[in-house]
Amino acid sequence: RPWRIAVIPGDGIGQEVVPQGLRVIEAAATRFDIALQIEHFDFASCDYYLRHGSMLPEDWKEQLDGFDAIFFGAVGWPEKVPDHISLWGSLLQFRREFDQYVNLRPARLMPGLRSPLAGLQPGDIDLLIVRENTEGEYSNAGGRLFAGTPREMAMQETVMTRVGVDRVLHDAFNQAARRPRKLLTSATKSNGISITMPYWDERVRAVAAEHPQVRWNQFHIDALCARLVQRPQEFDVIVGSNLFGDILSDLAPALCGTLGIAPSANLNPERLHPSLFEPVHGSAPDIAGRGLANPIGQIWSAALMFDFLGHPKAHDAIVQAIEGVLDPRSGAPRTPDLGGSASTQDMGRAVAQAVIAA
Ligand code: NAI
Ligand code: MG
Repeated sequence: RPWRIAVIPGDGIGQEVVPQGLRVIEAAATRFDIALQIEHFDFASCDYYLRHGSMLPEDWKEQLDGFDAIFFGAVGWPEKVPDHISLWGSLLQFRREFDQYVNLRPARLMPGLRSPLAGLQPGDIDLLIVRENTEGEYSNAGGRLFAGTPREMAMQETVMTRVGVDRVLHDAFNQAARRPRKLLTSATKSNGISITMPYWDERVRAVAAEHPQVRWNQFHIDALCARLVQRPQEFDVIVGSNLFGDILSDLAPALCGTLGIAPSANLNPERLHPSLFEPVHGSAPDIAGRGLANPIGQIWSAALMFDFLGHPKAHDAIVQAIEGVLDPRSGAPRTPDLGGSASTQDMGRAVAQAVIAA
């Protein structure tokens, strides 16, 4: 049977980069003879919210649960809807309700990318951030008291469950085991956060014992950020809680020159529910609607989707096409974040053509 893919562009540049992702998906499906059934949805956007008073229809779970994958753009338009409402009302619901507990975010310094760090060669940054995606600091447990008084306060709890921590750690060790360097770094802050982070460290030690083929170490998140900037070559796979993984996965692609290329895979590894593939970046209201957005983050996310669905050749062909287009010797179009003046569409078309020609 064909793979069923739900397409949700969302807001802002999501509307511009998703069509380019689809163009490449169709090119790869043709090239490798992969049957797809694609359906489009307009919910999970701020315009949908303005029309309906909620980000999602009531039966969104039934509508989406039969799909194999969700191909998602970005959500958020703070002038229309506050960010915590748009994000909690859509993407965070998908991640939680579909139990997409592993968020994979690769970042590589490819030829043609200009790192803001001096003296780096292509390949010097080759990272895989594994972010816990369903609990941790993004718990929604807490509250506000004494509103409007001098005693006003806000509290929010971090939730770490044994099941939740162990399953993402196992996945991260397995990811590391499949890579040449077989090194896993854990992001912690057990010096300052005195209950949940020591628990995280304890589970890292326990889970590490079951993966003796992987070397591992740990850094406090602040020192880890500093070291990533100073010596990114030293890192391979980095696993972090929901918040730390979120922060690291913007830092890592920024060190590779642009947030516009970074992909992510929100995985339900057991395949009981659809997994979701989206760029790391958001809806970028500052550049939306002008054809300036780099579509590579969305396109690379399509590659991750093919890999998860069991089509590694389609994955590899898309990644090679991205590398080819980014290489300045190709003369291929480049969006402004890469120092060029090409449009989102031009770049998407170039990658799709490279996939077909591969
Ligand atoms: P952002 O990622 O949208 O933009 C940050 C900066 O990177 C901006 O200067 C933007 O122009 C640039 N940028 C982002 N993607 C780019 C691309 N493909 N090509 C070229 N430049 C690109 O983050 P920001 O500004 O903090 O958030 C904007 C909105 O997006 C907010 O509503 C936020 O909540 C939402 N957001 C949604 C996410 C998601 O749907 N997964 C993730 C992050 C933010
Ligand atoms: Mg983020």
